[in-house]
Amino acid sequence: MSDLATVTKLVRSNAQLPVNVYFDDVLLQQELKQLFHQGPRYAGHELMVPNAGDYATLAWENEGRMLVRNPQGIELMSNVCRHRQAKMFDGRGNANNIVCPLHRWTYDLKGELIGAPHFDDTPCLNLSKTPLQIAPIVGASVEAATPLTAELQTRAKQRGITLAGSADQAATHVLKGYFSTMTEGKDTTVIYVWDIYDPAGNRLHRINGQQKAPSVGATEGWPAVAPATMQAIADQTIDQFAAWLGGSAG
Ligand code: FES
Repeated sequence: MSDLATVTKLVRSNAQLPVNVYFDDVLLQQELKQLFHQGPRYAGHELMVPNAGDYATLAWENEGRMLVRNPQGIELMSNVCRHRQAKMFDGRGNANNIVCPLHRWTYDLKGELIGAPHFDDTPCLNLSKTPLQIAPIVGASVEAATPLTAELQTRAKQRGITLAGSADQAATHVLKGYFSTMTEGKDTTVIYVWDIYDPAGNRLHRINGQQKAPSVGATEGWPAVAPATMQAIADQTIDQFAAWLGGSAG
C-alpha cells in the first residue's frame, strides 16, 4: 500500500530557500560570477546589424563594444579608439568605415586601422576584439615573473591585443603559464607551457617551449635567469598567441 498520505509526507517541505537569499548582495555577486559569467553571454542578435556596414553599440556595456557587420560576417569589437580612447559610434547606423570623431583615425569594418592623419606611418593599432586575461604565473620566482608579466603587457599592446584585468568578465581567452628551470653544468634553461582557455574553462590551445638563460653569476635555478630571458619568452608567447588566433579565426 502506498504511504503517500502519511503525516510525514504531508509535512511542509523545508527545501525552500530562506528569504534572505533573495536579497543578499554578496550571494548575488557570487552567482553572477560562478553561474552567469563563466559561460557564453548574449551580446546581441544578428538582426541588430542586418546589412553590411551596419553597426550597433552595446548600451549595456556603456557602448564600449559594438556589433559590426562586414562582408565576412559579424564582429564583436571595441568601440573605443586606439589613439586616445575616445568613443567612436553612438547607437546604431551604417558606415563604410569606422571614423573616430576626435582626430579622424579610420578603421575598416574588420577593425583594422587604415588611416591616421598627422602620423607619418599608420600605427599598427587595430580595434581590440580579444580581451586576454593572464592568470598568475605558476612555478617562476617573483623576480622572474615580474619582467615576464611586464613584457607580456607591452607585447600584447604592440600586437593590438587587449589585456583584461583579473576581475574583468569580458575576457574571451585566459592564458595560464607553468614554468620550471633545468640547470646542467653552467647552463640554465627555462621550460614553459602556456595553456589557453575559453571563459568556460575549456582548453583551446597549448604553447610550449624552452629558452636558454645566459648565466647570471655563478648561480643556478631561477637566480641564474636574467630578466631579458623572461622578456624573450613573453615576446614569443604573445607572437604565438597572435598567430594562433589569426589561424583559428581564419
Ligand atoms: S582619439 Fe580617436 S583619433 Fe584621436
